[in-house]
Amino acid sequence: MSIVEIELGVIDLLGPVAPSSVRSYLNLNTPTLFERTQRGFYRVKQIELALSDNASKKLSAAFKHKKAKLYLGDCFEVMSQFEPESVEAIITDPPYGLIEFTEKEVKKLRDGRGGVWRIPPAFDGSQRAPLPRFTVLGAADLKNLEDFFVEFAKAVARISVPGANVLVASNPLLSHHVALALSRGGLENRGAIIRTVMTMRGGDRPKNAHKEFSDVSVMPRSMWEPWLCFRKPVEGRVQDNLRKWGTGGFRRNSAEKPFGDLISSSPTSSRERKLAPHPSLKPQALLRHLVRASLPLGTGTILDPFAGSGSTLAAANAVNLSSIGIEKDGEFLAVAKTAIPALSSLELIDPIGSKTRNSLGVKRRRARA
Ligand SMILES: C[S@@+](CC[C@H](N)C(=O)[O-])C[C@H]1O[C@@H](n2cnc3c(N)ncnc32)[C@H](O)[C@@H]1O
Repeated sequence: MSIVEIELGVIDLLGPVAPSSVRSYLNLNTPTLFERTQRGFYRVKQIELALSDNASKKLSAAFKHKKAKLYLGDCFEVMSQFEPESVEAIITDPPYGLIEFTEKEVKKLRDGRGGVWRIPPAFDGSQRAPLPRFTVLGAADLKNLEDFFVEFAKAVARISVPGANVLVASNPLLSHHVALALSRGGLENRGAIIRTVMTMRGGDRPKNAHKEFSDVSVMPRSMWEPWLCFRKPVEGRVQDNLRKWGTGGFRRNSAEKPFGDLISSSPTSSRERKLAPHPSLKPQALLRHLVRASLPLGTGTILDPFAGSGSTLAAANAVNLSSIGIEKDGEFLAVAKTAIPALSSLELIDPIGSKTRNSLGVKRRRARA
């Protein structure tokens, strides 16, 4: 359809709308929701959303594997079509600073042209993978970030059942902004899960003055990653909520050991990176542990609205749980199509929580030294 036809259609459905709003919406959602067929002409991307006979929007998954379904599109758009109270847990690794996964920055990353992505200094002769810089965010970026996560929390609160756990990966420089926004959006703060992991952040000597200040690091070398732990408020007592919705707590690691909020985890292995080449890949050992714990009775569906390579979905498959993912970038979705089957069946050499090995569905194997 031409832009004018689209504008008229929107006015027909919604009443008077500024043509500039229609144009920005098309711009913002191309190529995820719309394809530009020629100058001034757009069509709905067929693989994402199909219109059903009764004209109500119906979702069609771009990819399915075992108990996982993956949708291509903007997560706000896709989530807006979910039924209320239809998911039991959310586990996600969103764009921490928002800007790093905008089309502009992802293009720079793919072209190897820097932008917000930078290569950490090599210290052992090997080339490091690019990491987004969050120190470049200004006041306006932080305001956008907070607005984004307030809206995110509202969207998640609508589609999740009471007591649903919402686990959101973050970064020590930004987690306070995200946590405040999630509470403002109606979710209840339940603390944080700390993943102790050696990251490539911090620890550098002052730029261009390494020798002069050889005993100084500008920031502490970062050795942990926060996972914000939120919940949609429970209905009544936890026991009532567990009976009615199957949610409201965490599944224990074993009869003797509750799920804990300090998790020691290795960086994602090169073996997993080869199977799922995404710049922000999280390791299966961590994800399988979180996914399993997030559904206290082992029933329900886990949603990852920022699915990337589909690692959360693969982890859910590995522990035999249902999952849904949403990813807006077509190239990452293509990665996910091969990564999900490969990661789902990956045998872990060193899964977290030795007592839970069998319930994590991985074979016992001697850990490598
Ligand atoms: C930090 S990465 C997640 C990587 C994932 N943890 C993995 O292991 O592959 C965030 C992902 O969210 C996607 N994304 C960003 N904004 C989105 C949106 N509004 N809707 C859906 N996906 C989005 C990005 O394209 C990116 O792949």
